[in-house]
Amino acid sequence: RRHFLSALDLNIVEANRLLDLADTFVALNRQTTKKLDLLKGRTLVNLFFENSTRTQSSFELAGKRLGADTMNMSVKNSSVAKGETLIDTAVTLNAMRPDLLVIRHASSGAAELLSQKVGCSVINAGDGQHEHPTQALLDALAMRRVFGDLAGLTVAICGDVLHSRVARSNVNLLSVLGAEVRLVGPPTLLPAGADRWGASVHHDMEKGIAGADVVMMLRLQLERMQGALVPSTREYFRFWGLDREKLKAASDRVRVMHPGPMNRGVEIDSDVADDPAVSLIQDQIEMGVAARMAVLATLAARLDND
Ligand code: CP
Repeated sequence: RRHFLSALDLNIVEANRLLDLADTFVALNRQTTKKLDLLKGRTLVNLFFENSTRTQSSFELAGKRLGADTMNMSVKNSSVAKGETLIDTAVTLNAMRPDLLVIRHASSGAAELLSQKVGCSVINAGDGQHEHPTQALLDALAMRRVFGDLAGLTVAICGDVLHSRVARSNVNLLSVLGAEVRLVGPPTLLPAGADRWGASVHHDMEKGIAGADVVMMLRLQLERMQGALVPSTREYFRFWGLDREKLKAASDRVRVMHPGPMNRGVEIDSDVADDPAVSLIQDQIEMGVAARMAVLATLAARLDND
């Protein structure tokens, strides 16, 4: 496949191959000189229609560290502001012959749609509430470096699952890798049919994280909620925010994750988020560059073979 649109694009062999490759890039990124020429002559375009700190900057660094010419399209200053559509924008950029196009968009299915219209490889950097597959890959990398094989690992994904593309991609990839996944949150923030995702569903935080090896907190996505559905953040923290007390229910070896951006004091307490003995949040950010380098290098190698 030329594109990377969903965590479901990967079987266990492909996922582990990407994770193995990403591990080598972690080592490279820790050296003083962090440069390879695997993507020399290739052009990478970042097209982000939604805000991003981690994903956009890590794709940019990943491309540069592999030797690609990398361009961040400034959507705010582009002709999108004059009404140009997603497809027209993408087809316009495609005419400039990029090799890799990284897209983030508010609509579920945007990356897939784009992949049918352009000649380059498309990478989904988050489409609406649907998927964020490179986030799942970097999360798996962070977990694998602590626990080794993910088969049999218990991962509790907690909070606003309803609006979370991170949750969907993680359920998909973790299931492929053999982990046991739990979805934990209030009924209003769990999607209808979540019990058919291949994960167990829990409406009690303490029971949901009991014995879990990983507790992955999700941001309360207030911007995707309306009117009566918006919870009070103080009430939310009392029942669903992860603090030291609630974390006692998890395994003794538990690690806490959060894809960012974090709402401190809403879904997670700083005391837990900033504790290097349990928190993998900084590791996740580091793994993001390596995981994205692995995806870019793999797709570029396929382009070379076409
Ligand atoms: N985790 C994540 O996608 O973060 P950004 O929105 O900052 O890219």
